[in-house]
Parts: sequence; C-alpha cells; structure tokens
Amino acid sequence: MANGSQLAAQVKNLSKSFGDGEARLKVLKGIDLDVRCGDITMLVGPSGCGKTTLISIIAGTLAADEGELTVFGHNLRQMSAAQTTAFRARHIGFIFQAFHLIPTLTCVENVSVPLLIQGVSVGKAEKRAREVLAQVGLEDRMRHRPAQISGGQQQRVAIARALVHEPRLIICDEPTAALDAKNGHVVMELFEHVARGQERAVLIVTHDNRIFHHANRIASMDDGRILEVHDIDVAHPPPEHLKTVERL
Ligand SMILES: Nc1ncnc2c1ncn2[C@@H]1O[C@H](COP(=O)(O)OP(=O)(O)OP(=O)(O)O)[C@@H](O)[C@H]1O
Ligand SMILES: [Mg+2]
Repeated sequence: MANGSQLAAQVKNLSKSFGDGEARLKVLKGIDLDVRCGDITMLVGPSGCGKTTLISIIAGTLAADEGELTVFGHNLRQMSAAQTTAFRARHIGFIFQAFHLIPTLTCVENVSVPLLIQGVSVGKAEKRAREVLAQVGLEDRMRHRPAQISGGQQQRVAIARALVHEPRLIICDEPTAALDAKNGHVVMELFEHVARGQERAVLIVTHDNRIFHHANRIASMDDGRILEVHDIDVAHPPPEHLKTVERL
C-alpha cells in the first residue's frame, strides 16, 4: 500500500447474531478491520467462522447488531435502507459465493444490470459490459444464458458484473473457487490492476492458497473473531514454500 492511502472501509467492534432465544447464535464477536484503497485484502478462515456474514455487512446487504461501519467516510449504520441501496449501487461491487446471476438474462445483460440501475442507456451499458466480459476471457459467450455456460464461466460473469460500474470497493466471496489456474490468474491480474493501478480497494474471502501471493494484507478469522492481520510487502514477497495459509 502507498503511504496515506484512503481507507475504503473501517469496521470497529462489529457484532452480529442470528436467530432468537435458545437458537440465538453469535456469529461476529467484536470485529475490527480496515480495508484500504490500493490493497488487495484477503479474509481467510474455516467454514462457518463468519466470513460471508462480515463481508455482507461491509457491503451493506446485511445489518450489524452493534459496532461501527464506515465506508468511504460514510457511516453505513446510520443510513436508511434506501440510502444504503443507492450507496452500494454506486460504490460497491459484490461477487456472491453462489454468483446470483439472473437466469433469464444473457451474459451481456447480466453484466449490464449495475449500469442500467444507474440510468445508463442499454446501448452504452451493453458496450461497456462486452468490454469487461472480454477482459475476463468471455468474448465468445456474450449471448449465452447462465445455464448454458460452465461454473467457472458463470463466476467470471459475476466478476465482470461486479467491476462494470467501476466501484471503488470490490468485495468477492471466493472469486476463484470455480476457476482453473489459468482463469484464476486472469482474474487476479484484473484485481491487481483495479487495486494497485486504479487505487481501488479489493476485499476477497478465499480458501484458495494459489492466490495468497496476490494479497497485500491477509486477515485470518475464526469463530467470529479476527485472529491476526498480516501486511505483506508485495515488492518483496515471501519465498514460494512459505506462501501457504499455514504460515499465517
Ligand atoms: N441467515 C442466517 N441465519 C442463521 N444463521 C446463519 C445465517 N447466515 C449464516 N448463519 C450462520 O452463521 C455462521 C457463519 O456463517 P457464514 O456464512 O458467515 O460463514 P463463512 O465463514 O462464510 O463459511 P463458508 O466458508 O462455509 O462460506 C454459520 O454458523 C452459519 O450457519
Ligand atoms: Mg461463506
């Protein structure tokens, strides 16, 4: 990270529970985390530890119970639902663990949606959508529908949709889980360009140790808590044999 980079998101003492009475489950137990522009921040931890819950709160799709959440200087916890939706549409790109593509729309139409929501014309939106689909290697799948393409291709459509409106904060839940090595590399190069070249913030939940070397920071999480945050000097990355999560 360049010194003085802007904070994209700041989380302080955030907590979240699900359910009522005896079934109540505390899923986030006082989370502190900074997500900075210019960085690729990775969030790692075992299944069920609260990663998706945390990034959903940062993205404004789920409300926290307690704590502070500031995104680009705006207090998300004080915004109304309508304000949060408008803020998210403008500033945040989100890639869901399960992609959430619209089955009746083609790839180009799916990727155009965030621009159409902002009032961009169909022609302009689809032109831009085709550019981003080409960047993720899907130039020959523009008019296919999600059911007609592979899981890895669907994942890349979801990534294109999260980038198309040039949000300043991109949040991805397992963005390379369905991708082979080659396409995982293409996607990570794109995230590096977006983070380091364009000073935007990329927050990635991942189990994929093939991509850890792209991170500037790795936050490890367990049982609703952040255990450690490691800053990584990308100019002097650790040797190959140390690039595994066991090191963290
Ligand atoms: N809507 C919900 N209602 C009740 N419990 C929930 C809800 N969403 C998540 N949980 C529970 O909260 C815990 C954390 O879930 P979360 O999806 O955040 O985990 P995760 O770290 O993303 O796991 P994974 O790596 O498997 O995706 C889990 O025990 C899950 O069962
Ligand atoms: Mg998850």
